[in-house]
Amino acid sequence: MARVVVKAAREVKGKSKSKKVSRKKVIKSPTPHRSSIRPPKLDPKQIPNHVAIVMDGNGRWAKQRGLARTAGHEAGELALVDIVHGAIEIGVKELSVYAFSTENWRRSPEEIKFLMGFNRQVIHDRRDELNDLGVKIRWVGREKKLWSSVITELKQAEVLTKNNKVLTLNMCINYGGQAEILDAATAIAKDALRKKIKPDSLNEKIFTKYLYAPQMSDVDLFLRSSGEQRTSNFLMWQSAYAEMVFLDVLWPDADRRTLWRAIEIYAERERRFGKA
Ligand code: FPP
Repeated sequence: MARVVVKAAREVKGKSKSKKVSRKKVIKSPTPHRSSIRPPKLDPKQIPNHVAIVMDGNGRWAKQRGLARTAGHEAGELALVDIVHGAIEIGVKELSVYAFSTENWRRSPEEIKFLMGFNRQVIHDRRDELNDLGVKIRWVGREKKLWSSVITELKQAEVLTKNNKVLTLNMCINYGGQAEILDAATAIAKDALRKKIKPDSLNEKIFTKYLYAPQMSDVDLFLRSSGEQRTSNFLMWQSAYAEMVFLDVLWPDADRRTLWRAIEIYAERERRFGKA
């Protein structure tokens, strides 16, 4: 089943005048889960707008099977794709995934090389499928040290998907929460020296403009797989009031049902944002 949701206008030049021809982009519906399970029925107000995910447990999943750690990362690709389909089905509008952290440079050179090439390949191989689903791909992270071929691939995917509105997928690659806040502080200090900003006028709203993706909304639900209960420097500023859900499933075993379970837990939480 397909839905038509985007209209694009194209200029057709005649001899003396030009006229606009409307071109429609066909958005594909998400593919149902292989079990045909449907998302839980929740009030739309109970659905988190922005879900951040730490895709943890690939190494342990591989070790349990006597495989190389890299096989765990490879198996994690399907989990991510299924979760994107499931996020659209349930009505999540923004998904941020931690695909490579600024701390992951401490891994072995072989694993770093693998993860760089793997991220590049996944973005390349999946961008058309994601574009068809109406997913806007956005890279969030630090440029320094990141392979230029990965940046090129990310930028191409961003251009291809820039007008999509169904779901924003933030690919957090070479991302660290402390690095992001530090980079913002450095940029603010430079702007203060250039007299472009007055230090006393700084507030949360202005600070947010200096983050890697100022348009990113605050995280509502922060999900980590694998049973570990840490945030590991992921979206620290944006997750200030996020609900934390830690599920005991290794990332390659996760799929849209994992996301939906986390959303059901989220739906039962009472969010007060500092109010009594
Ligand atoms: C954690 O597993 C995961 C990462 C270091 C990030 C990489 C994630 C993926 C490759 C998943 C799929 C990503 C894409 C882009 C499809 P770990 O190695 O820390 O596992 P462990 O804690 O069991 O050792």
